[in-house]
Amino acid sequence: MKLAVFPSSIETSRALILRLVELMNEETDRIFNIAVSGGNTPALMFDLWANEYLDITPWNRMKIYWVDERCVPPEDSDSNYGMMRNLLLGIAPIPYENVFRIRGEAKPVKEAVRYSELVKQQLPYRLGWPEFDIVLLGAGDDGHTSSIFPGQENLLTSTSSYVVSIHPCNGQKRIAMTGYPILNARHVIFLITGKNKADVVEEICNSGDTGPAAYIAHHAQNVELFIDKGAASWYSSFLLSCSASHSRNLSRLMNLRLPMCITGTSALLNNAYDIERENPISCKSLADRISGVLFKSSLIL
Ligand code: 6PG
Repeated sequence: MKLAVFPSSIETSRALILRLVELMNEETDRIFNIAVSGGNTPALMFDLWANEYLDITPWNRMKIYWVDERCVPPEDSDSNYGMMRNLLLGIAPIPYENVFRIRGEAKPVKEAVRYSELVKQQLPYRLGWPEFDIVLLGAGDDGHTSSIFPGQENLLTSTSSYVVSIHPCNGQKRIAMTGYPILNARHVIFLITGKNKADVVEEICNSGDTGPAAYIAHHAQNVELFIDKGAASWYSSFLLSCSASHSRNLSRLMNLRLPMCITGTSALLNNAYDIERENPISCKSLADRISGVLFKSSLIL
């Protein structure tokens, strides 16, 4: 699991766009099957993408699917497809036939079956499951991802690629990608920003299988977390406490299953810090490096 922390949600979103373009530029002879999540977090990324990165993106080599969708029509303000269409897909030169929306207006059970079959037809298969190149995930502050909510962990091992789930608070039906196709993806990338997500980031970093997002993060093959300093606030405050008494905490730090950073060629990634698990550095140095980067940058902002 790799963690990239940035001073702001804008820089986090920009870095993620550059990372996605980088991945597609590493294999210029193929189409990328990309599944995106919805919710509020990716809206900023889609908007930045439409305004700043249209011309560096290989739109003709992308097929867009959804990780999950609310069971509402595309015009509904809750629609994940509608949000991405309005902010990005209606502007980007992506071939219409390469966008495979989940029909939120359809009967949920029938749509879950239809979309599972569509994905089966469109994607290569590996280990008996469709293999997405990239699955972009968010995480709710309750620890959910896709639309797999706490208490619905059985969906992590569903035998269908997409099922109907129900939001535990408002009862809204959702069509959700289940655990196996997510885990089967070549790259699983979380975009998580905001102080309200600090606890779920800590859960992802520290726990094993306590919630759907943590479970996916610990069981997928290639996982990257793109987070801002608000979502990393646990991280930096913990490490700053280290710098005060770093010897006592060093063993604690090294015993934590902290995801380590970072790869990426974009200049924006330089705003992140890189820590190599293979070369454990002193906790104080780690804290100084992290706090320096984080707070220096926030002073700039
Ligand atoms: C959805 C999303 C969902 C999202 C998390 C985070 O349909 O709501 O796909 O999985 O990633 O709920 O949502 P926010 O970005 O709104 O916090």
